[in-house]
Amino acid sequence: MKVAIGSDHAGYSKKRDLMPFLLREGHEVLDEGCYDEESCDYPDFARKVTERVRRGVADRGILICGTGIGMAIAANKVPGIRAAVCWNSKTAAAAAEHNMANVLCLGSRMLTLVQMKRLIRLWIETPFGPDRHRRRVGKITAIERSFLCCGKHHKP
Ligand code: RB5
Repeated sequence: MKVAIGSDHAGYSKKRDLMPFLLREGHEVLDEGCYDEESCDYPDFARKVTERVRRGVADRGILICGTGIGMAIAANKVPGIRAAVCWNSKTAAAAAEHNMANVLCLGSRMLTLVQMKRLIRLWIETPFGPDRHRRRVGKITAIERSFLCCGKHHKP
């Protein structure tokens, strides 16, 4: 799988340490920054990673900030992105099985590196669930489309 990964300063060291793990797991990694611990703004990296996923350059995206929350809020503004903040095995598996999450958001101040690796593996390896989940994800896409029509905001 091709995985785009990005972080802000709070997530930088975890991103740095996760990249060799992803390579060892057999994935191709696109590093979208940041590249040091100097203070920076998480939406910039949410944008870079989600653009890669949206355009199909990457299959999945991983975003790391202090909590995962800011990254998820920013990422979910991008059409076609389903970003999930996950904090344990159940949420990581459900994000894949129920929500077809194509971006995983992790909190560097909430999770250890070992926990992150476990969540990433689960999220990547868990298949999307049965038809009722497809129907629900389809309804999410329909909401998104109703607001995108002609570049204007329309009532759904
Ligand atoms: C940075 O201090 C912090 O606000 C950011 O990493 C993230 O947690 C935002 O959601």
